Amino acid sequence: MPDSESQRDKKKVYLGMSADLVHPGHLNIIRTAAGLGEVTVGLLTDEAIASYKRIPYMSFDQRREVIENIKGVDRVVAQTTLDYVPNLEALKPDYVVHGDDWRDGIQKTTRQRVIDCLAQWGGELVEVPYTQGISSTQINRALRDIGTTPDIRLNSLKRMLKVKPLLRFLDIHNALCGLIIENTAMVNEKGRCEFDGMWGSSLTDSTAKGKPDIEAVDVSSRIHTLNEVLEVTTKPIIYDADTGGQPEHFAFTVKTLERLGVSAAIIEDKTGLKKNSLFGTDVPQTQDSVENFCHKIQVGKKSQATDGFMIIARIESLILGKGVEDALMRARAYLQAGADGIMIHSRNKTPDEVFAFCREYNRFENRKPLVAVPSSYNHVTEAELQEHGVNIVIYANHLLRSAYPAMVKTAECILRYGRSSECDAQLMPIKEILELIPGTR
Ligand code: SPV
Ligand code: MG
Repeated sequence: MPDSESQRDKKKVYLGMSADLVHPGHLNIIRTAAGLGEVTVGLLTDEAIASYKRIPYMSFDQRREVIENIKGVDRVVAQTTLDYVPNLEALKPDYVVHGDDWRDGIQKTTRQRVIDCLAQWGGELVEVPYTQGISSTQINRALRDIGTTPDIRLNSLKRMLKVKPLLRFLDIHNALCGLIIENTAMVNEKGRCEFDGMWGSSLTDSTAKGKPDIEAVDVSSRIHTLNEVLEVTTKPIIYDADTGGQPEHFAFTVKTLERLGVSAAIIEDKTGLKKNSLFGTDVPQTQDSVENFCHKIQVGKKSQATDGFMIIARIESLILGKGVEDALMRARAYLQAGADGIMIHSRNKTPDEVFAFCREYNRFENRKPLVAVPSSYNHVTEAELQEHGVNIVIYANHLLRSAYPAMVKTAECILRYGRSSECDAQLMPIKEILELIPGTR
């Protein structure tokens, strides 16, 4: 049987790929691989991709369908980590083929592990010169410039929750904050990281408008801020809907948010004149009855037009000194009423009571995503929150709190010296501000 004979002689070639935006550079690599032997593509799962960059546009199954049908690909397997080693040890390929653009930067370590692993059985890494003029990064940037659609943005939160263990959100009160969240990225010891989305904080939006955080800024005005942010960003937004108001009014808010492409609304179980939670029991605050609040959740859920939108119930029991048991009882009831997630809030200096809540909450059979807002217990790390099952961490007011003191300092400096020269060193250079927003020139 000459055919199977030649199959047996064929060398085994392995390629790791995301294959979300397939371009001629990928085809070039596949061609090279096919020339060396039988090609197995290790298609990175959504989880593996999300561990170091944005979640892919297409699902794993869609990406698999594309890759399976490309000439030169013999089979597709899942690569569940960014690290190639587990698949290489299972398949023992003669060659791994990759573009030569991973010698520097964050993939450097991954590359070295491939080389060391192949060395165990005499395998070889073949690097294909990078195809000039086209790359997924360029296409991604162009797509970002084009923007997104309300539908894609709305659904992106649920997709992220499926593939990332912990999502990181930061407050917005204007479009500039949105741009900071959209574009700020950092390479730390764990790799590349960025914010996953934006928190439409009632505190910072109200404060930026010079109004108290007591639902005095009406929903139309809050939506106006969101609209400005939506215009210049693509990441998901979680909207702080305060108490949600009357259930009948909340139903309209839900529809408006969905239409805009906001992913979730969080409503808190307080009633009457809402005061900011960080006051705790220093000001009179009343918690809603379980029955009333469940009704509000149900009305919100019923008014939804999409499957992707989430209504997250925020529990104020710890803020109001009612203890973990009360919070757990409410969490059970709110999930039963249809809430898509729970936010547990606390103003303690330590995360102990939040973690006590988490331990029990994680045992719930109908457990849904859990949100934490560590403004006061800010020593807690993201790793610790993740370990305790928190799915979304919200840094609720940090952009506003950093901007305000900087602005006051500048105002004082001008007053002190009767000119602005002395404060110039602490300001963004004029050239930079002019170039900050594309199209200013
Ligand atoms: C907000 O950011 O408006 C919040 C969180 O609701 S907190 O200020 O802690 O109540
Ligand atoms: Mg708020």
